[in-house]
Amino acid sequence: MKFSKLTDRISQLGSDKWLVHLEARKLKKNNPNIIELTIGEPDQLPPNELIQKCYESMISGRTKYSNGRGEESLLEALAKKYQSRTSLKVSKNNFLCLPGTQTALFATVMCLVEEGDEILVGDPYYATYEGIIKSSGANLIPIPLREEHDFSLQENDIRKKITNKSKAILLNYPHNPTGGILKKKDLSKLVDIVEKNNLWIISDEVYEELIFSEDFISPLEIESLAKRTVVVSSISKSHAAPGFRSGWVFAQADVINKMLPLAETMLFGNQPFIADMTAYAISNKSKTAIKMKTDYERRAKLICKKLAKTKNIRPIMPKSGMFILIKLELKNYSDEKFAWELLRTEGIAVMPGSSFGLNGKDLIRLSLTVPDNKLEKACERIDEFVRNIV
Ligand SMILES: Cc1ncc(COP(=O)(O)O)c(C=O)c1O
Repeated sequence: MKFSKLTDRISQLGSDKWLVHLEARKLKKNNPNIIELTIGEPDQLPPNELIQKCYESMISGRTKYSNGRGEESLLEALAKKYQSRTSLKVSKNNFLCLPGTQTALFATVMCLVEEGDEILVGDPYYATYEGIIKSSGANLIPIPLREEHDFSLQENDIRKKITNKSKAILLNYPHNPTGGILKKKDLSKLVDIVEKNNLWIISDEVYEELIFSEDFISPLEIESLAKRTVVVSSISKSHAAPGFRSGWVFAQADVINKMLPLAETMLFGNQPFIADMTAYAISNKSKTAIKMKTDYERRAKLICKKLAKTKNIRPIMPKSGMFILIKLELKNYSDEKFAWELLRTEGIAVMPGSSFGLNGKDLIRLSLTVPDNKLEKACERIDEFVRNIV
């Protein structure tokens, strides 16, 4: 029997990127000393009132089939939220509700590009982007994100990679894994490039509420960009609610109409009780996000301080998000080797930077979603490990 080409294209792009994490999970069962700093799972529960809202909604009978686009309550709340961000007229027709940013992005890529097309993506990038893009048959074209530019996309780097196959730029600011953020000047530089080359902008804004001190900005705020922008997001990070799987796509109404049949044939809508809870969540300022970003910023500073004297590695203070990158300045130690040996000898699990693209090599990523005292311990063991290998 034969399988589709899709299965070959993505065969190495699923769990292979998370092998250190998976091994740590296994070891942890028998070893409570393992400290897991791999994935971005919030260390808080979602607010009680959201769980209560879900429960009340289920009890009231909101457990039937939904439609393909999304429940009225949620579409209205989304329209309100996004109207404040753009001068374009926003209505319920601009949204498609899907289970999380992940599926929203998958559906978007499937609907905008096809085999042989190219999507420009800042490198390093979120580990699943490659699999999503390859699923569609398109290719991920990496654009280097450099520390000296605060991990922002540089105009020249983008122009060098444009070909007649380029179809879209995938932005992810606030950025995972670097914690970089977008500035208005970065967006202004994109206007000419996307117009001349007729590119879509896909903007993954899942970390919108986790910027430490500056303001969030979206391509939706520049009218000429907004028309060609498809935003994907969710409540996974903003409300510490990844398990609810509640996300959406925002785009021009004609784009959403084109995407609708895919949502209808794949999912036939998502859960009405999840939609009611999400409508409530996004209509109120998230106290959970405020607490998380305070915690994550403090923990990132703690790591910078604790590892300041450790030679041959250098933490890079993020401006947002749930992670901190550490630059490895070690000969004979790739990020992969570092991560595996750190796990085996010190019981600390970190993500090797190459899971996030070629530009991630020589970096490791630590999650900030564990308590301060555990992070302090992790830093001590990382320091010990580095001293032993140099
Ligand atoms: C950049 C980025 N996009 C998307 C996702 C997935 O988000 P969701 O839980 O909304 O599917 C993540 C999860 O870590 C992420 O880091």
